[in-house]
Amino acid sequence: MKIAFFDSKKYDIKIFEQHNQKYKYEIKFFEPKLTPDSVALADGYDVVCVFVNDVVDKYVIGKLYEYGVKMIALRCAGYNNVDFNEAKDKMKIVRVPAYSPYAVAEHTVALMLTLNRKTHKAYLRTRDANFTLSGLTGFDMYNKTAGIIGTGKIAQILIRILKGFGMKILAYDPYPNENASKGLGFEYTDLDTLYKNSNVISLHCPLTKETKYIINSESISKMKNGVMIINTGRGALINTEDLIEGLKSHKIGYAGLDVYEEESEYFFEDYSDTIISDDTLARLLTFNNVLITSHQAFLTEEALNNIASTTLENIKEFDDNRKLTNEICYICQNSSCSIEEKCNT
Ligand SMILES: NC(=O)c1ccc[n+]([C@@H]2O[C@H](COP(=O)([O-])OP(=O)(O)OC[C@H]3O[C@@H](n4cnc5c(N)ncnc54)[C@H](O)[C@@H]3O)[C@@H](O)[C@H]2O)c1
Repeated sequence: MKIAFFDSKKYDIKIFEQHNQKYKYEIKFFEPKLTPDSVALADGYDVVCVFVNDVVDKYVIGKLYEYGVKMIALRCAGYNNVDFNEAKDKMKIVRVPAYSPYAVAEHTVALMLTLNRKTHKAYLRTRDANFTLSGLTGFDMYNKTAGIIGTGKIAQILIRILKGFGMKILAYDPYPNENASKGLGFEYTDLDTLYKNSNVISLHCPLTKETKYIINSESISKMKNGVMIINTGRGALINTEDLIEGLKSHKIGYAGLDVYEEESEYFFEDYSDTIISDDTLARLLTFNNVLITSHQAFLTEEALNNIASTTLENIKEFDDNRKLTNEICYICQNSSCSIEEKCNT
């Protein structure tokens, strides 16, 4: 098996080389993201391995097919960057459905607590021998309400943590999980009720046609004044221009963003010696109540190990002509199921 690995970072190479000692596949680590410009690098490979911001559109899939690529191994859970209609009859698509939901849930809480208690500002202040407290007032998480949109693997872990703070939980999911609701002690509700009553709103649904811009001027107008919005899902769940208007009008009190709808050009890269030409991102960075992390919620040792072992095992199943445990369902992509779990086609 010859694997073309796109958007390689130092930490990817280290962990995949370790895990590949078991499989001994020929992996070529390419630094560029997979795009129409870089797709030619995949010529002659059996599998391409991609991450969240690689482009797997109609053109790229057509070219990969022409080059003889038989499988795309996503080393992430989300797959909104893949054109399934195009891939359907041309190649298999596998993913890593859960590499560490704990990593993402815990990072979500880190964003909440940092924004609330302003530890990022305190750190800079005390390093400069400024021990004043003005401007650092937060709020008790205890007894506040968290609105959770999407109640899958990550959200359920988050809910458990937030319940530990003594928070009340309101959740929305078109496919409610009554067992989780009973077991964890949270309530399902409609979106309007969630918006109206939540002090903190956190997004954990996949990016689909239905969820694109779920947070927009209309939904923001239904929220509590000073609401905290956290997005560790996908950037385009939020209409960023509307978010900015909400921040400017003080309707939104805090925003914690691990993802951004136009992140692919900037995230994971170092632009510290240049000028940001994306005015929306630049504006977001000016707010002192906005905290942006660069799609790092997944980044723990445990998650990297799981990503490498599952991705290589996905490829091994294909190599052995076995059933693909983590193949993505072409039919019900929206519900993030796998063929094995649901459609069985
Ligand atoms: N920032 C990161 O590093 C990172 C890492 C992993 C995953 N993610 C994102 O987090 C998302 C959630 O991951 P997960 O592992 O919990 O997924 P999951 O599949 O376990 O859960 C997703 C939940 O969203 C629900 N859902 C589907 N459509 C919805 C809608 N219209 N409105 C509300 N809920 C809806 C599903 O029913 C499901 O319960 C992923 O889709 C991915 O985009 C981000």
